[in-house]
Amino acid sequence: MKKYLVALTAIAFLAACGGSSTPEKKDNPSVSAEPAAPAANDISANPDYEKGLTLIAKSDCLTCHKTDTKNIGPAYKDVAAKYENTEENLTLLAGKIIKGGSGVWGQVPMTPHPALSEADAKQMVKYIFLLRK
Ligand code: HEC
Repeated sequence: MKKYLVALTAIAFLAACGGSSTPEKKDNPSVSAEPAAPAANDISANPDYEKGLTLIAKSDCLTCHKTDTKNIGPAYKDVAAKYENTEENLTLLAGKIIKGGSGVWGQVPMTPHPALSEADAKQMVKYIFLLRK
């Protein structure tokens, strides 16, 4: 009976030692830092990407605009390169989407989109700004 108790104590002691080594690993920054790195460069992980793209796909934008190449309108990546991501440009471009625009990229005008809310137009511009390299 005594031997049995000693064995139990020994097992409990070993288990406690085994358990204490786990948090040590978690505290090591090199273990937790690695998986976060690729997500930071992936623009599709940003919630504004999905929301803006969904609105753009639902509207008529893609009949005139492509992401990477010029179509009737400028490529979204060229728009992103031209305008810095500022609150001022966000408002400016959202206004152009709603009211229409011309003369910035050529002679072809962009048709107005009066049915769009300013919030939706801004959400579209946020997506376009994410394409900036
Ligand atoms: C009928 C074709 C057409 C449609 C539809 C269209 N665009 Fe355009 N878009 C253009 C043209 C052409 C220009 C360039 C206008 C200019 O030179 O000022 C342009 C310019 C832009 C610009 C840059 C404006 C500037 O002043 O630099 C943004 C941003 C934009 N469009 C977003 C959108 C979004 C978002 C939609 C969908 C709601 C959309 N466009 C629908 C043709 C279109």
